[in-house]
Amino acid sequence: MKSGKSTRSRIKILVLHGPNLKLLGRREPDIYGTTTLNQINTSLKSLAKELDVSLSIDALNGEGEIVTAIGNAIGRFNGILINPAAYTHTSVAVRDAIAATELPTVEVHLSNIACRESFRQQSLIAGVAIGQISGFGPSSYLLGIRALVNHLNTVGNQSSIKRQ
Ligand code: DQA
Repeated sequence: MKSGKSTRSRIKILVLHGPNLKLLGRREPDIYGTTTLNQINTSLKSLAKELDVSLSIDALNGEGEIVTAIGNAIGRFNGILINPAAYTHTSVAVRDAIAATELPTVEVHLSNIACRESFRQQSLIAGVAIGQISGFGPSSYLLGIRALVNHLNTVGNQSSIKRQ
């Protein structure tokens, strides 16, 4: 018997958590809350089920590992959701990797980086992302997935990166 499911190929999203996010739950709870990374991943997976998209989730501390994961996403994923954590503010390499893949990428942050120390207020990633969601705690990730899936379903695979 046919399942009745659409034959359209499923959207595949790579979710990347940057450095120190494995420590969520105990890391500076006044800023990042008490939700653990496992709990965030569980709610991401249940949203992915609801939206009928597939997720691959990785938490990587090293800048090089993140650059490699982004490069390897070409041809395997339709889009990237990333919390680049501290590399947001420092990494030309992560920015260049996202620009090189041309995959639509949504940048998310638990805290509102615009309201924090001045060194956190600049994102090197924002200019190559299709958008940034910052300040909603774990919901930033869920809003980010919804925004990315909506983009992929409407605009398609274009990353809309503004070249400078
Ligand atoms: C963060 C904000 C960054 O400034 C910080 O280095 C992080 C977490 C956030 O999700 O709020 O590690 O990306």
